[in-house]
Amino acid sequence: MSNLINKLAREELIDMVPYQSARRLFASGNTEQANSKIWLNANEAPGTGHYQISSENINRYPDFQPDNLLNAYSDYSGLKRSQILATRGADEGIELIIRSFCRAYQDSILICPPTYGMYAISAQNHGADIVKVPLQNNILDLDGLSQQVGKVKVVFLCSPGNPTGNLLPKAQLIQAIELFKDNAIVVVDEAYIEFSPAQTSTDLLTEFDNVIVLRTLSKAFALAGLRCGFTLASEEIITLLSKVIAPYPISAPVAEIASTALTSQLSKMTQCVQTCNEVKTELVTWLSTQNWCREVFASNANFVLFRCVNNNEKTRIFDLLVANNILIRDQSTQMQLENCLRISIGSQQEVTLLKEVLS
Ligand SMILES: Cc1ncc(COP(=O)(O)O)c(C=O)c1O
Repeated sequence: MSNLINKLAREELIDMVPYQSARRLFASGNTEQANSKIWLNANEAPGTGHYQISSENINRYPDFQPDNLLNAYSDYSGLKRSQILATRGADEGIELIIRSFCRAYQDSILICPPTYGMYAISAQNHGADIVKVPLQNNILDLDGLSQQVGKVKVVFLCSPGNPTGNLLPKAQLIQAIELFKDNAIVVVDEAYIEFSPAQTSTDLLTEFDNVIVLRTLSKAFALAGLRCGFTLASEEIITLLSKVIAPYPISAPVAEIASTALTSQLSKMTQCVQTCNEVKTELVTWLSTQNWCREVFASNANFVLFRCVNNNEKTRIFDLLVANNILIRDQSTQMQLENCLRISIGSQQEVTLLKEVLS
């Protein structure tokens, strides 16, 4: 970095490591290069989508929150339009929540590692401190959480969790929300909820003032490239977040494709979930019989986390797959996840190929 930029930049950003997204670790390159690889490292859905868009009004700015999109998500989620904010992926929702509730260099967020990396990155970017209360056996440590009451402004809970994959028990979520009901927002990140829809926490939005639910079209809807997510909360919270978000967060083509996916093509999503669950069950059974695999984590999402018997085996498996153009995600540097790798559930054909390589 030049001297000038070094002098002018916020000091803490100079050494900050950005989020190591799957695409930063392995760029997709041109279409030919991308198609030669099997991408099982970003919890995307397999298969391509075919959507038609009209460019009739492309000379105009889109509505702040496009009507067709909000109506579609309202019908899908059973919530009122006033409880929904469409965002540039759930990631933008995370950022908006931190910017709206945490004062830079004064307030803190709370995370429960191992968990999704963007909560901490967004907090760091904004200058919010990060308090960690690790999961215990993949569920919440309620005693640990109770010790942080009054010390944090936003609590991020991920259910189903990434990278662990399991749901947090609803009773625990309610206890956590009650613990913080007077002094912190509790965000339930439901990026993977379509894989076990009955477990949603949206019903808690009417009961508690301090709850926000995050959703996305990137996983079960197979639209990660679209960048479309939803923040679900009380009307009061949505009004607040609407002051912080960009003026035109959802482009017209995004609104058009997302609305179609949520209405006339909704059955595609349910089909995607069903196939994914079948392929996942088969992969879990197979992993459990491999002598290099010590533990397979329970998964309610579109990926499976497993622990290898040791670091050598973990590296061997990861490298062998990379050498065969199959990309999975190494999670072993995360707290509690020594020797762990995560496989996103691709198509039946992709998972079969992975098994063949490892056999
Ligand atoms: C738990 C969790 N939350 C949020 C996101 C971000 O989703 P989006 O693609 O909508 O930004 C992801 C993406 O992997 C995730 O795993």
